[in-house]
Amino acid sequence: MDALSGQRVSGRLISGLDAIEALRSSDLIPVTTVADEFSRWPGDIPQLLKLQGSEHRRHRRAVAHPFGPARIRVWDPMLRHMFHSGMSAMGRPNHPIELSNELVWPYIEGAFATFVGIPDPANRQHMVELGRMSLDPGISLSRRRLAALRLYRATRDLVTASADGGEVQIRDAVIPTLIKSGRDLSDVIGVAMTMLSGGATLTVSGILSCLVAAGRRPSQRASVDELLLECPVVDTVERRVTKGTHIGQRYLQTGEMVSVSLMPQEHTKGLPFGAGPHTCLGASWVRAVAGVFVEEITSNFEINVTNVEERVDPPIGRGLIAVTALLHPSRM
Ligand code: HEM
Repeated sequence: MDALSGQRVSGRLISGLDAIEALRSSDLIPVTTVADEFSRWPGDIPQLLKLQGSEHRRHRRAVAHPFGPARIRVWDPMLRHMFHSGMSAMGRPNHPIELSNELVWPYIEGAFATFVGIPDPANRQHMVELGRMSLDPGISLSRRRLAALRLYRATRDLVTASADGGEVQIRDAVIPTLIKSGRDLSDVIGVAMTMLSGGATLTVSGILSCLVAAGRRPSQRASVDELLLECPVVDTVERRVTKGTHIGQRYLQTGEMVSVSLMPQEHTKGLPFGAGPHTCLGASWVRAVAGVFVEEITSNFEINVTNVEERVDPPIGRGLIAVTALLHPSRM
């Protein structure tokens, strides 16, 4: 299959790619392949990035159901509720606050746990712990894996109990939806784990990026996609060339790795969530979660960012870990 068939290695071209292999899938979604239990997950969605062609389509179809835009819309009231309870708990700050710890993580913790179908405070705690560990380069891989394993076990017990008892806690949540569609339990747990750890962490980073970008353009509204392109979380994806091909003057050899930019290029708008068969499965969810947060914050406050800390190394690539800002009430 011709993996690189366009004329330029840029954002748009990626929509024509298919038989591809991502190099650093672990950069996008940190989880854990070492412990035996993890390596046995057949449908674990981080693996999607490594699959190709019909095998990839089959796996993706199996887990994509709860992530479609129409299904995501039902979560809107819950997201607004989560946002407002977080804001009222915080009061009206008149001093710089660290947005990640004080606002974004508490919101994401509740939102992701509810969306996945695990509204259990103990598991939220595991998720937050794991998410923070993933962002801290000083913490060893083995400690991260241990934390992931604890969350996996807690999640597995909960899913098993819910499946055995036939009780669906939240009708539209990911776990009940996948259980109802007859998915293997280990697939369901794989999806839940990805969402709760890597997905949540990536989204926190995404929301922080959106807030920094929104702070640069007070009173101008922008979509989550536009904000993410101004302050990107994932700016390139890596591909293996599966069939030698010319891109402009350059010949790309079979087996060679190329980095494809997702940032705006000449004649392209940029693709913060990628495009084509491997386009981000969580994109609708991220747009909803980040959209509610950014819309609510920017319609109530002007954001004056005073400090930004960037994550510098793997496991999940670049992104922001902390943003300190002064929130000036704009019409309250
Ligand atoms: C700001 C947050 C996020 C950004 C910017 C982002 C970006 C991306 C990008 C650019 C890709 C394409 C990678 C490639 O083509 O090689 C991707 C793939 C993927 N993303 Fe996300 N993502 C985010 C959050 C999430 C979340 C919350 C989930 C949880 C469900 C998720 C699940 C996935 C999966 C499963 C894939 C692989 C899809 C496949 O190979 O078929 N992402 N993401």
